[in-house]
Amino acid sequence: MINIALIGYGYWGPNVARNIHANPDLKLHTVCDANEEMLEKAKRLYIAQTKYELSYKKLLDNPEIHAIAIAVETSGHFNLVKEALLAGKNVYVEKPFTSTVKEAEELRDLANKLNLIIHVDHIMIFHPIIKKIKSLFESGELGELLYIDAMRMNLGQIKKDVSAMWDLAVHDLSIIDYLVDGKEPFYINAVGEKYYNPKESLCFLTLRYKGFISHIQSSWISPLKERKLIIAGSKKMVVFDDLKSEKLFIYDKGVDVISGENIEYKDYAVKTRDGDILIPYVKVEDALYNSINHFKECVQEKKQSISNPDQAIRLQKILEEADKNMNK
Ligand SMILES: NC(=O)c1ccc[n+]([C@@H]2O[C@H](COP(=O)([O-])OP(=O)(O)OC[C@H]3O[C@@H](n4cnc5c(N)ncnc54)[C@H](O)[C@@H]3O)[C@@H](O)[C@H]2O)c1
Repeated sequence: MINIALIGYGYWGPNVARNIHANPDLKLHTVCDANEEMLEKAKRLYIAQTKYELSYKKLLDNPEIHAIAIAVETSGHFNLVKEALLAGKNVYVEKPFTSTVKEAEELRDLANKLNLIIHVDHIMIFHPIIKKIKSLFESGELGELLYIDAMRMNLGQIKKDVSAMWDLAVHDLSIIDYLVDGKEPFYINAVGEKYYNPKESLCFLTLRYKGFISHIQSSWISPLKERKLIIAGSKKMVVFDDLKSEKLFIYDKGVDVISGENIEYKDYAVKTRDGDILIPYVKVEDALYNSINHFKECVQEKKQSISNPDQAIRLQKILEEADKNMNK
């Protein structure tokens, strides 16, 4: 049994607590929140044997606690992860990992030195639909990747410590990173606007990778909630709509280049191809449960997480470069 303490019981923390509790190999040892009101809320969902603390310092020297899960605002991640590692605890931390690449590198090096695990909750790579899309590419069914168009928008919650791009595009960047095995873009640009926030609350990020391009829209200023990806392959195209009950659509559509007889232009013709739309059966799984379960396996087997600091650093390098190029 691995005893985990959770720091942060705001908007997202209760979901992390619920999924730790649901895992038979994990014990939610302590819930910690510096805000008394939040801690009272946590106590109402009382789980036998779970303790409650206002100060995270109490968790650090408790030898019963093997791991710490961190679900506080991004600006608070660096200090808490560092203190947890120095106290000898394995760490599960919410995305985005840290506020800068430099901080992320320091924590990665510290964890390696101390032989401890850091798992960053890049939740989307644990989503069954994303795993299915990866298998469709690996089997060759979709052909070559042409482009990825991602939309992640809703009204609010406008945060102060991160931009909508750091908060939302990080999900899409983690999906791309996972689908193309860590391939990095060679062109990064973005436009954004700072409505009601010291950082951008609306942002359009454009990326060019070897062989494909990507556009990622992140917004807290939208009348509609969207969580949608369009991924075009040279053979088939897929749409992943995370807000629908049927989430994955495979379109047997595309563009064929035909050479030979009856050609229209010079020695080849370009023809669009229409075909069936398939909604494949994909077993329902909770992505957050899968992410936490993967962290558990990494701690048990002392192996690197697939969403380790190196992955987070690749994503944050893109975000930092996009910030540098923003509106230029
Ligand atoms: N994986 C996902 O899909 C997903 C979704 C939403 C949020 N998140 C991430 O979860 C994290 C938390 O976001 P949120 O929206 O829940 O924030 P929030 O502001 O609603 O909650 C943060 C909580 O942490 C507490 N806190 C902050 N510093 C603390 C400290 N030092 N000690 C004890 N308690 C402390 C605050 O009192 C607050 O209750 C962020 O990193 C965010 O990006 C991830």
